[in-house]
Amino acid sequence: MSMQPKYAPLDYERQYKDFQDAWPIYASTAVLDELRATDYARLDRLGHVYLDYTGGGLYAESQLHLHHELLANHVFGNPHSNNPTSLAMTHLVERARDFVLAFFNAAPDEYAVVFTGNASGALKLVGESYPFESGSRYLLSYDNHNSVNGIREFARARGATVQYLPVTPPELRLDPALLAAQLAVADAAHANLLAFPAQSNFSGVHHPLSWITDAQAQGWDVLLDCAAFVPTNRLDLRQIKPDFVPLSFYKMFGYPTGVGALLAKRSKLAKLRRPWFAGGTITIASVQGEGWHYLVPGEAGFEDGTVNYLNLPAVEIGLRHLERIGVAVIHERVHCLTGWLLGQLAALRHSNNAPLARIFGPPTMDRRGGTVAFYLIDPVGEPFDVRRVETLAGEQRISLRTGCFCNPGDGEVAHGIGPTEMAPCFVDHTGPCTFTEFYQTIRRSTGKTPSTVRVSLGVASNFADVYRFMAFAESFRDMGADALDYLPVGERHRVPSPDAA
Ligand SMILES: Cc1ncc(COP(=O)(O)O)c(C=O)c1O
Repeated sequence: MSMQPKYAPLDYERQYKDFQDAWPIYASTAVLDELRATDYARLDRLGHVYLDYTGGGLYAESQLHLHHELLANHVFGNPHSNNPTSLAMTHLVERARDFVLAFFNAAPDEYAVVFTGNASGALKLVGESYPFESGSRYLLSYDNHNSVNGIREFARARGATVQYLPVTPPELRLDPALLAAQLAVADAAHANLLAFPAQSNFSGVHHPLSWITDAQAQGWDVLLDCAAFVPTNRLDLRQIKPDFVPLSFYKMFGYPTGVGALLAKRSKLAKLRRPWFAGGTITIASVQGEGWHYLVPGEAGFEDGTVNYLNLPAVEIGLRHLERIGVAVIHERVHCLTGWLLGQLAALRHSNNAPLARIFGPPTMDRRGGTVAFYLIDPVGEPFDVRRVETLAGEQRISLRTGCFCNPGDGEVAHGIGPTEMAPCFVDHTGPCTFTEFYQTIRRSTGKTPSTVRVSLGVASNFADVYRFMAFAESFRDMGADALDYLPVGERHRVPSPDAA
């Protein structure tokens, strides 16, 4: 017997009311409904349901106008000269830097802001410059983004020990006892670096930020990856004091892309050893004496060449936009909507009462953010091909993400794929293994699906978005996974560009 759809358009008002009753604090975020109708009106005008905020945030139209007005009404030159157009630009670049510090409540004499191309650029600066040596340790959680994992290559090359802290299913959290044990084995005579994300970009897990002081008290430096955390959570650098914080601004407010930052304690920047120098990073260099150059102290020593100067005022504009709304308001809204979504997704059932979704990560809003990883599964528990799910969602203008999200650790644990199963992709493999070959190898040898669906919420999300997503998820009810033609591995269905017409 087929069941009535739960998320029919006619039921919307009633379910919205139920949601508001269950999450009363949502009412305090009404300012975001006004902005959705004005600054983010293009979403509804074009019929989009955007659920990929962890991939990239959305900009408000007003951000664009303010930035373009600024550019259209001034003449700006390359900063750091004494001509008027250069001075005007230098002023705005330094204002943006000061504003970043103020936004994160960082004491200017304690923290520096190094502008980079993105969070990965910030991470590479730390990796290539950190004084790893034989006797050092690089300790990192499984649920790091690959740009944090990649630092292990620098660590290993310099003889440091690399140690991972596994996450534990089903919530994909870390074991504090294991962390404590690993922190204790470090030799404080050497440089030791701990890296973990404030929010996993796969599971949404929030790790305890008290680990920062625990680690520092034992002589560790701490890199807290905040790329997925800061778009919807307040980071207060007077309350918590990691040594290095990488982030990307487009994830916070959508525009501009191509600018990120490394927030670093000044004392720890001084500890880094850059492997090269570039225009802008030195006081003077000479071509006549090899090795003759002086690095500029502070942030300038880490900004290679010309900064992305015309875009930096847009960083201040974006941060002011978030400040006006209030990060706490964005946080509350995302918290409520994600809480509803998690509850609904977990409760969704086929007619045989089997669940329609399997969530990877915390099932409630306890210590987690607005990023939800899951499979849609059929009545016998077989996952639907995630690429088909993405394509079908796309046909309804629902933007979600599938894959591993550059977070292999959470993915491997979530799907129960161990080193023996991964080995054929690395050991004795002829040439580099592509994601497609990896997918095929794991499917063939284990029957497991090493790919996931992710939805994530942000500044412009509303109840209609999550409701439409639930109606989409419900459309898989009572369908067999094999009823969807599996895509030949390596192929993606092409969704016609919805805005092209
Ligand atoms: C937690 C985390 N760290 C780092 C990054 C890398 O950011 P970017 O690609 O902007 O360098 C991402 C991107 O998704 C992320 O989610």
